[in-house]
Amino acid sequence: MGLRHRAYGGRMGNTTDRDASKRALHARRAASFGAKATDYAEHRPDYPLAAVRWALEAVPTVPAPVVLDLGAGTGKLTEGLLAAGATVIAVEPDDGMRIELMRRLPGVRAYEGTAEEIPLADGSVAAIVAGQAFHWFDQERAFPEFARVLQKGGTFAALWNTDDTRVDWVAELGRVARTDASVPPLELVSRKLPEHPLFEDFEAAEFPHAQRRTAESLTATIGTHSHTLVVSPQQRAEVLRRITEYLRGRPETAEGEFDLPLVTLVLRTTLRRR
Ligand SMILES: C[S@@+](CC[C@H](N)C(=O)[O-])C[C@H]1O[C@@H](n2cnc3c(N)ncnc32)[C@H](O)[C@@H]1O
Repeated sequence: MGLRHRAYGGRMGNTTDRDASKRALHARRAASFGAKATDYAEHRPDYPLAAVRWALEAVPTVPAPVVLDLGAGTGKLTEGLLAAGATVIAVEPDDGMRIELMRRLPGVRAYEGTAEEIPLADGSVAAIVAGQAFHWFDQERAFPEFARVLQKGGTFAALWNTDDTRVDWVAELGRVARTDASVPPLELVSRKLPEHPLFEDFEAAEFPHAQRRTAESLTATIGTHSHTLVVSPQQRAEVLRRITEYLRGRPETAEGEFDLPLVTLVLRTTLRRR
């Protein structure tokens, strides 16, 4: 259908330049979401309650546990945690995202902070969860911080809503939506947590999920992904146009509403008892 798909990455120099350039792009992507915080809140999917409950399975439920939503964004996962019965504290570095969270969920305590410097006291939370955010953390610095703020035996869990690329039109959509800032999916979201001496071996589980979309609203969802936020306005407009054209040209997505099939991946671990 005459669509030009972009290859991952661009032309680069030697390894050191390449590493520095990769790190700079990663940092720009990590900080990109606030520019479209309202769109993010409107168009990103929620999380299935079964996935949230599994993430928190090892956490005592009485009294209501205090759970830290780290990199909480506009509060998508916060809502799932509240539905699961947790008392939630949100930590989010981006002002635009945090302000949107506070507007939507005024009862939740929300603080400025990062995974590497969590603004909470030692041993103050029963669990830390990160939705669509763990891959942005400096993991070497973050794990000791998790261990510091968790209570004994506390849980850390990372959740991701991933496109179900076993479905043909979804896999092709991933190729159509590439920009110069795209990286191979496994470079961002690994299917395992790194081993860490302070934490037990991680466990993984997947949960089927879906988001009701139209060609236009799915284009808007992808417009909140960092790889479309950090490119030039021209490239952003071009990729969003290409996505709508693709969706309008596929029988599965051409007319009205359809389900975007998702798989919610959860990785969980607990603080090793010493
Ligand atoms: C894709 S959004 C996910 C937001 C929300 N958790 C959700 O499930 O929709 C990633 C969030 O991680 C935040 N973030 C980026 N780097 C971070 C860091 N080092 N520590 C904590 N949060 C970070 C971003 O500001 C952004 O709000």
